[in-house]
Amino acid sequence: MKKRSSKRQTIEAINREVLVAEDGFIVSKTDATGRISYINRTFMEVSGFVESELLGHQHNVIRHPEMPRGVFQLLWQELKADREFFGYVKNLCRDGAYYWVFANVTPDVDEQGNLRGYYSVRRKPAPGAINAIEPIYARMLDEESRGDRKTAPTRSVKILQAYLAEQNQSYIQFMQQLDAA
Ligand SMILES: Cc1cc2nc3c(=O)[nH]c(=O)nc-3n(C[C@H](O)[C@H](O)[C@H](O)COP(=O)(O)O)c2cc1C
Repeated sequence: MKKRSSKRQTIEAINREVLVAEDGFIVSKTDATGRISYINRTFMEVSGFVESELLGHQHNVIRHPEMPRGVFQLLWQELKADREFFGYVKNLCRDGAYYWVFANVTPDVDEQGNLRGYYSVRRKPAPGAINAIEPIYARMLDEESRGDRKTAPTRSVKILQAYLAEQNQSYIQFMQQLDAA
């Protein structure tokens, strides 16, 4: 029998939002292969998952079906280049509800420069940020739903890049603008 390295849960998304508290920080850490090695109490409280359901798994267990794959392509591209990533992420709760966060994801490097893993700190988004990002993600997702699945993330990132070019902004400037929204 084929062994699966990571169990992928199938949670049906429902249209119920869980709000992150103003002072709530949702933290997780992974090993160098992206397997979750730590989640904090706020993570469990907001998402409804317990440690045993997430430790050892990739974060895609909590990936919401409305999140464009292109966003995660950008995330991994930055991490592999030893840079941190900022982004708005809609995540799944254990019961299918969702929560929006403004996430910062960072490579965790030791004094010798060896990659120990990654960590992420997520907080409640600024009030206007989600209204601004949702239509862009919807366009990205729409693009991903057509044509070749393999090239879908790259094609959807192009939509984001075209939007940024129109605004004359870099991705990080856009993130900062939304955070002030
Ligand atoms: C430290 C860290 C935190 C992450 N946090 C999330 C997260 O909160 N939600 C999410 O969907 N993916 C997160 N990811 C990205 C996932 O690893 C994965 O790329 C994403 O869920 C897309 O899944 P897929 O690659 O199977 O399409 C995180 C990755 C790392 C390294």
